[in-house]
Amino acid sequence: MSKGICILAYSGGLDTSVCIRWIIENYHLDVIACVVDVGQEQDEDLDAIQKKALQIGAVESLVLDVKDEFAHEYVALSLMTNGMYENKYPLVSALSRPLISKRLVALAQERGANYIAHGCTGKGNDQVRFETSIAALDPSLTILGPVREWDLTSREAEMDYAEKHGIPVPTTKKKPYSVDDNMVGRAIECGVLEDPNTAPPEDVYTITQDPKRADAPDEELVTISFEGGLPTAINGEKMSLVDLLVKLNLIAGPHGVGRIDMVENRLIGVKSREIYEAPGMMALITAHKSLEELTLERETMHFKLGLEQEWSRLVYFGKWFSPLKQAIDAFIASTQTFVTGDVRLSLYRGNCVTVGRTSPYSLYDFGLATYDSADQFNHKAAKGFMELYSLPIRVWAQMQSGLHDS
Ligand code: ARG
Repeated sequence: MSKGICILAYSGGLDTSVCIRWIIENYHLDVIACVVDVGQEQDEDLDAIQKKALQIGAVESLVLDVKDEFAHEYVALSLMTNGMYENKYPLVSALSRPLISKRLVALAQERGANYIAHGCTGKGNDQVRFETSIAALDPSLTILGPVREWDLTSREAEMDYAEKHGIPVPTTKKKPYSVDDNMVGRAIECGVLEDPNTAPPEDVYTITQDPKRADAPDEELVTISFEGGLPTAINGEKMSLVDLLVKLNLIAGPHGVGRIDMVENRLIGVKSREIYEAPGMMALITAHKSLEELTLERETMHFKLGLEQEWSRLVYFGKWFSPLKQAIDAFIASTQTFVTGDVRLSLYRGNCVTVGRTSPYSLYDFGLATYDSADQFNHKAAKGFMELYSLPIRVWAQMQSGLHDS
């Protein structure tokens, strides 16, 4: 007799496949498996994954395409914020978890389910993101994390369990890495990468190519157009945010742009080594920052830099649905109105740098900046300004030198 319904965040992989059976056996719940498509690469097609869940014993199996919502409501906010955890990681996985949670909660409410389950381990950030997001959206739901509870401590033990219960076992050799990906990029860990002193082997990368290889492409210039802080076109060709991200991954990836090798501080306290590749997103952040340099008034820009870090920390720590994060979103949105214009990027051998930028709202004033005869800056006014600007320091210095004299 079933004791209720559990919505499972399903990926089609071994862990979450075993979860289906394990929840049925140990919690006596009906399982609804749900794949949320945020633009991840698929080993098998989504149809096959959907069928597999039913075959394992799920009462219902769903695939939800949320790519547009992911791009517009999640990736877009991160881009306007230049979101980077510890100034380095463009939040690939941290961005998808809140949306996956939101869809699972909505489904739970629709189907009258009291439980939501995920396949995260007890050591990572993703359990925190799922559980904090779910709690924020519907605090009445109970969350299950079977992988944290079961005694299937090795992949072999899981495979045995799978075989015993007729769960299809991956036929391919075990992949040496743990990967999470979506349209923003890929996160790769485990295997040889666990030694932070070992250089990542080339086979960890799938969407970027080795910038050192002999036949690496020549320099390529790409123009990104922005309107109100968001990219709208590549080389003059207008497209949706989803298409733009996909296309920019294909343009920047072959140049080896957006590879990141990082030792990061997880929320639970462990330092971990992770490799990322996010060619399109890194190119977009580079371009967006360049346009902000041109269009944001100085104090706003300096203040925004601090909030960018705080926003990224909150998102990394699973607080997407929190009052502070929402308040920062409102600030960020109000800064983006005039972040409109074109940025020209140069892509070459792992580098992505801005080489030109224009905006109808540019605050760059040639007459004020130039050192040639067109100069309109009032040099005489600078003299009085220096006197007052340095006044408190001067007073302090006089007092200090008096201390030493006596
Ligand atoms: N460290 C990244 C984060 O916390 C990625 C987590 C998932 N990584 C993975 N390789 N499965 O956002």
